[in-house]
Amino acid sequence: MQPVKIGLLGLGTVGGGTVSVLTRNAAEIARRAGRAIHITHAAARDYKADRIPGVELIKRIGDDAFAVVDDPEIDIVIELIGGYDPARELVLKAIANGKHVVTANKALIALHGNEIFAAAQKQGVMVAFEAAVAGGIPIIKAVREGLAANNIESVAGIINGTGNFILTEMRDHGRNFSDVLAEAQALGYAEADPTFDVEGIDAAHKLTILASLAFGIPLQFDKTYTEGISTITAEDVAYAGEFGYRIKHLGITRKTEQGIELRVHPTLIPERRLIANVDGVMNAVLVQGDAVGPTLYYGAGAGAEPTASAVVADVVDVVRTMTTDPGNRVPHLAFQPDELSDLPIVPMDDVETAYYLRMQARDKTGVMARVAGILAANDISIEAIQQKTSEEGLDAVPLVMLTHKVREGQMNQAIEDIESLDTINGRVMRLRVEHLDG
Ligand code: NDP
Ligand code: HSE
Repeated sequence: MQPVKIGLLGLGTVGGGTVSVLTRNAAEIARRAGRAIHITHAAARDYKADRIPGVELIKRIGDDAFAVVDDPEIDIVIELIGGYDPARELVLKAIANGKHVVTANKALIALHGNEIFAAAQKQGVMVAFEAAVAGGIPIIKAVREGLAANNIESVAGIINGTGNFILTEMRDHGRNFSDVLAEAQALGYAEADPTFDVEGIDAAHKLTILASLAFGIPLQFDKTYTEGISTITAEDVAYAGEFGYRIKHLGITRKTEQGIELRVHPTLIPERRLIANVDGVMNAVLVQGDAVGPTLYYGAGAGAEPTASAVVADVVDVVRTMTTDPGNRVPHLAFQPDELSDLPIVPMDDVETAYYLRMQARDKTGVMARVAGILAANDISIEAIQQKTSEEGLDAVPLVMLTHKVREGQMNQAIEDIESLDTINGRVMRLRVEHLDG
């Protein structure tokens, strides 16, 4: 049988990893796919040939990505250039040319996936995107296929490797934020614009995709609440630890009576939970289904070969099914396209969670009582409270507490009232707490 011909866009971290893995494991991959897989045409502007074993086997490498998607020889286009444009145009052109597409581009799928999948369905081609969520973990296949029997209740995950690497290094080695971020960039973990990692935008892209797969709703990135990790201090990490919690940057989506929660933010999780012990660049996704109960998926969330593992698995999947009737393929977003639901996204003010609060309180009699009074007036019950010793020369002491669950809108009102007290200095630090106990 003729080899399948691949057109590759991008020879950076993931593109390079994909060439290496496809070359090194060519025989095993062909045994699985049923055909040899050859990259015959690639586009890259600037790449390090000496660092990509197998790149010399690619017959044609140019800098024109459109020449690849227009190449009549190509069966499958792998898009690994990233970003919105020209990636969107290239993918749509590849689809219009009748080619299947594999991409690791979560930004593209989260924002333009509805349009891309509609075009692919019309053309009868596949768009596979396993590498777009949680790097090497086959989480898309697990949610879309392995859990297809379930009514999925919630998904919560550490889905940005760079952010988890930063939080782990800060906690375990006391390193500063910008040094660790620079290392993550050098290791190829970070996005082209690393604010996507630290401000939660990358995790929000991935959560948008997971929510669609879990609940059968359209991709709605614009409705995902996003908060980053750049305001977390070493004190918060330490105080959380004293209460028995770890701070993780979580993406959480949950089906409630009001609709679907869709939120990314730093979160305190009890340290005894497995997911609280996922460190470094590793990712983990906890999926709760009504039949299966909790399931946890763990693995490298970023990096050349872990991500290439997911890209190549998608290529094998496409090769196996490219001759089947399009109507019998697994739907892009797990549910049949005409069966997507219009469940509303719950406004953040209506989301209920527990909270960690830290504030600088003047060391005067009655301050703690006034803060407790405001919380009580807003119907917020305190689970634990600690007053720390003041730093030398400062007249304020850190006051740290955990609350029971409350509606976010009520907590916002309480924080506003606390910040207006003349005995409280500056802003109140607020982090959400999730027990993840199903
Ligand atoms: P890189 O920046 O390392 O690689 C992108 C490559 O594409 C670069 O070599 C770049 O060349 C090239 N490129 C960009 N635009 C064009 C163009 N118009 N024509 C031809 N070549 C172009 O990115 P990554 O490999 O890290 O990421 C690729 C994709 O994979 C992104 O969507 C990313 O979000 C996703 N991803 C990345 C992971 C990781 O661990 N790095 C993990 C999971 C997903 P030049 O440098 O000259 O601009
Ligand atoms: N920048 C992303 C991360 C790459 O750090 O998780 C993997 O999607």
